[in-house]
Amino acid sequence: MHWDPSRYAAFADDRARPFHDLVAQIAWPADGREAPRRVVDLGCGPGTLTATLAARWRSASVVGIDSSAEMLASARAGAATALPNLAFDLGTIEDWAPGPTDDVVVTNAALQWVPSHVVLLPGWLDAMPTGSWFAMQVPGNFGSPSHALMRSIAAEGPWAEALDGVLRADPVLDPAAYLSIMLDAGFEARAWETTYAQVLPGVDPVLEWVRGTGLRPALQALDAADPSGALAAAYTAEYSAALRSAYPATAHGTVYPFRRVFAVGRKA
Ligand SMILES: C[S@@+](CC[C@H](N)C(=O)[O-])C[C@H]1O[C@@H](n2cnc3c(N)ncnc32)[C@H](O)[C@@H]1O
Repeated sequence: MHWDPSRYAAFADDRARPFHDLVAQIAWPADGREAPRRVVDLGCGPGTLTATLAARWRSASVVGIDSSAEMLASARAGAATALPNLAFDLGTIEDWAPGPTDDVVVTNAALQWVPSHVVLLPGWLDAMPTGSWFAMQVPGNFGSPSHALMRSIAAEGPWAEALDGVLRADPVLDPAAYLSIMLDAGFEARAWETTYAQVLPGVDPVLEWVRGTGLRPALQALDAADPSGALAAAYTAEYSAALRSAYPATAHGTVYPFRRVFAVGRKA
């Protein structure tokens, strides 16, 4: 699956806010130690936010892991890589396992791409060292109009065959379910959800938002089925018209409510 780091960087402030709300919950210095030994950012994307972890804990070894070569190229080219304690590794979340000095594991807006995370979580948490922190955030908006319309329009029309099975059902749990997993693993944990009422500028901004993330699998499948781009353009035209009705532009911009699910805890 290809990612476009520059397209993803649009709306960077709105995309960053949940990350900052998430990592603010990690209470470190702790246990007499100024910084964690190692910090891992799973699905780090362009690395901009990973860099804030390296700046917060200068003596920690901070690594961002991502399966997208495009995202990692952007991360490695970023000015933030001047931080000597920051590195990026190409790899999949499915193949990752915590090491004995992984004192902080952060994963922001990535586990929704890994449906097996629900099965993998207990093993990760079990392997993490005592006193370590695990902090995750996933979008919880798969039932929102933007995603429901993406799927319902995909199912009917000349593009339906090309899009059959491409758009995912809801791959994330509710806060209480993540909380249970963390408590069962011996973490002192809390979980919650927040809906960010984002005001997006520009024309068709909700379409532009999802183009950078959730719509990519559909557009890639349509381009593969019809390299002329006509099929993708036809689907996008119908989808964008529906988005304009669901999220009308106002004098202030377009309000796009976005629900996100958080879980954070420290291993007792
Ligand atoms: C929406 S971006 C989030 C990036 C960053 N964490 C942030 O908050 O800005 C999702 C990232 O997850 C990565 N990703 C998706 N599936 C993955 C997998 N199975 N293994 C590793 N990375 C994955 C993508 O390449 C992408 O960079």
